[in-house]
Amino acid sequence: MKSGNIVILTGAGISAESGLQTFRAADGLWEGHKVEDVATPEAFARDPALVHQFYDARRKRAGEVEPNEAHRALARLEANWNGDFLLVTQNVDALHERAGSQNLLHMHGELNSGWCLACGERFAWEGDMVPGNSCPNCHASGMVRPDIVWFGEMPYEMERIEAALRKCDLFVSIGTSGAVYPAAGFVQTAKYRGARTLEINLDPSMGSLFFDAHRHGPASVEVPKWVAEMLTA
Ligand code: APR
Repeated sequence: MKSGNIVILTGAGISAESGLQTFRAADGLWEGHKVEDVATPEAFARDPALVHQFYDARRKRAGEVEPNEAHRALARLEANWNGDFLLVTQNVDALHERAGSQNLLHMHGELNSGWCLACGERFAWEGDMVPGNSCPNCHASGMVRPDIVWFGEMPYEMERIEAALRKCDLFVSIGTSGAVYPAAGFVQTAKYRGARTLEINLDPSMGSLFFDAHRHGPASVEVPKWVAEMLTA
């Protein structure tokens, strides 16, 4: 059939098999820090060096790994799909775009983007950001922060996402624990507007009961299998 409108939400689980740590696994602490201690505007105000160190390490690591079969399968699905297709990711790595996804929104920001608190500009950023950084636009010193949506901040592109959720026929959530709103609420928006809902995750997420169907297993296996079924149906 290959038609109908699809919205897909991905989380850290889709990048796990590429070698990037998830947030809430038992080993999900970064050098003993809770994610909340390095991912809030308060943490950045209190200790910018620590927060920069955290994201510098993640930016470096994300640049060393490759997209996996799950990222590639989603790009394949998009390329062969006739209806609307929107991929919303909570991930700040660039593995979806590197796998070929096109209609993609990074609702929690991107590691390879910087945001200057002095002039408000956002720009591509490679390498470390360190406290003494310089804004490529206004040249202010030490004012560039990671372009990451921290706890307590508003996710990006919410209007576009909500509009797509309201008119989708199928909503699929992949590799996310369903612990962080508003993303965790997307399934309900889609479901109560009449969409079918599918969860693909290693284990049942916190919002598992809102999904009509579940596939539990590693994303690199379950996503290609599901995509193959979608493209032959
Ligand atoms: N395949 C599929 N799912 C997996 C895999 C895998 N190989 N490995 C782990 N998972 C699942 C875990 O079981 C878990 O349910 O992926 C989920 C990852 O959950 P989290 O670590 O909570 O990540 P995520 O849901 O993306 O977190 C949401 O929280 O910290 C903030 O802003 C950050 O975007 C992040 C948001």
